[in-house]
Amino acid sequence: LPVSVYGNQQEASLAVAGRIAKLIRDKQAKGEQAVLGLATGVTPIRVYAELVRLHKEEGLSFKDVITFNLDEYYPMKPDAAQSYVTFMYENLFSHVDIDKANVHIPDGTLDKEDVVAFCLDYEKQIEELGGLDLQILGIGRTGHIGFNEPGSAPNSGTRLVTLDDLTRSDAARDFGGKANVPTKAITMGIGTIFKAREIILMAWSAKKAPIVKKAVEGEISGEVPATYLQLSDHVEFVLDEAAASELT
Ligand code: F6R
Repeated sequence: LPVSVYGNQQEASLAVAGRIAKLIRDKQAKGEQAVLGLATGVTPIRVYAELVRLHKEEGLSFKDVITFNLDEYYPMKPDAAQSYVTFMYENLFSHVDIDKANVHIPDGTLDKEDVVAFCLDYEKQIEELGGLDLQILGIGRTGHIGFNEPGSAPNSGTRLVTLDDLTRSDAARDFGGKANVPTKAITMGIGTIFKAREIILMAWSAKKAPIVKKAVEGEISGEVPATYLQLSDHVEFVLDEAAASELT
């Protein structure tokens, strides 16, 4: 599994943003649209900040870029402070020239009986656009990618899932207490992520070191969903020194 270790989170984030910008520009040069798979959480914040800078200072345009986010809490109103819609607009979309019609984020407002059809359509939309060119990922302390918690199947698609207790504890601060954290989410599946032509998993800080070690060096198992990435020939882990500190 290819692992790139940078001195700190900022350097690593600039490198990842640079790769995203290059992908966007290479596609534009060919008259094609880049299709990006995006993540939320604290991990990609500086990547998005650099993309905003590249837009404002170096002419990077998102006009024809298409995005699909990994996940959203369920239920969740898009205008809630903790929604991944709010996160994406605050950290990226409001600051660049992306066309809102090209932004896709799982819908946390659906009636339960409409979720399955929505998820199938999410998959279909990605497929009809020719698939994701690049998926960026963080990793949760449960080993989740997206919200694919322990027990997720390697061929899973976009679906409604139950969040792991540890994931809800880690989100408690954002929600002013664990009791307020939704118990469910809609997430792309492991299978959805796998189909991306390129996958970059980022992790920063010593807090992530134990799960990064399991993901990179551990036995491949549904108990640590990120270990499935070991089976991919187009994945790269981008780490800071602290997150890489337990790797042998
Ligand atoms: C977010 C997502 C999650 C996070 C993971 C790490 O869209 O899919 O898998 O990437 O929970 O979260 P942070 O970056 O906040 O440590």
